[in-house]
Amino acid sequence: MKNKPVLKSSKSKFYHKLINNEVVYNNNSISRYKKNNGKNDNSNSRLKQLNMLKEKINSIQNCDLKKNATNLVFSDGNPFAKIMIIGEGPGANEDKEGKPFVGRAGKLLDKMLEAIKLNRKNVYISNVVNFRPPMNRKPTDEEIKRYLPFLVKHIELINPKILLLLGSTALNALIGNEVVISKARGKWVNKKIGSANPEVIASFHPAFLMRQPDQKKYAWEDLKMIRKKMSGLKIKLNG
Ligand code: URA
Repeated sequence: MKNKPVLKSSKSKFYHKLINNEVVYNNNSISRYKKNNGKNDNSNSRLKQLNMLKEKINSIQNCDLKKNATNLVFSDGNPFAKIMIIGEGPGANEDKEGKPFVGRAGKLLDKMLEAIKLNRKNVYISNVVNFRPPMNRKPTDEEIKRYLPFLVKHIELINPKILLLLGSTALNALIGNEVVISKARGKWVNKKIGSANPEVIASFHPAFLMRQPDQKKYAWEDLKMIRKKMSGLKIKLNG
């Protein structure tokens, strides 16, 4: 509530009228020192570094994925989210729009998130490779290796508390080739990825769930584990 104007003298009333100003006087002291707890600096620096990473990926040389793609597909969601989701690679729709998970698999992912009260305002989404593999094939081992340093940097910058790996490509790229998704899904692993140290869980890729809807019950188990972990880690949603 605005304090009532306290116009002390007729002189100040006169000046006030003269400048026809709507200044409101009050007796509260004003701090002339800018409050800076370092938060804004950190936020700006994260956004800057994410942009730099995006530019670096976009200037990759001698990569057939890039040569055949229309757009770089970097990320979607909230760069300050505590939950990061990694898919495999862009499909045709993602390539067209330059955003991950915007096609049919993306619609299912949105529904899965909604089931545990999440959405793209409170998670951050990216992929193992950032350009569409032609004909929607899986990225080769060589391609995964080429993009892995970018993915690790991306995870470092987001520094999530929870990392959800969707499907075998993300699982194998970040956890190792010796694990299979049907066995590794639904288990928490605390994993150091670069300087980040998230709780990692793998689940089925939504595109796989569209082909095998009877497996959705397992994905639901995994989603419930994420919700439970969020309360355990006291993750507050920022969107
Ligand atoms: N499948 C993925 O793995 N990533 C996308 O961005 C879209 C579909």
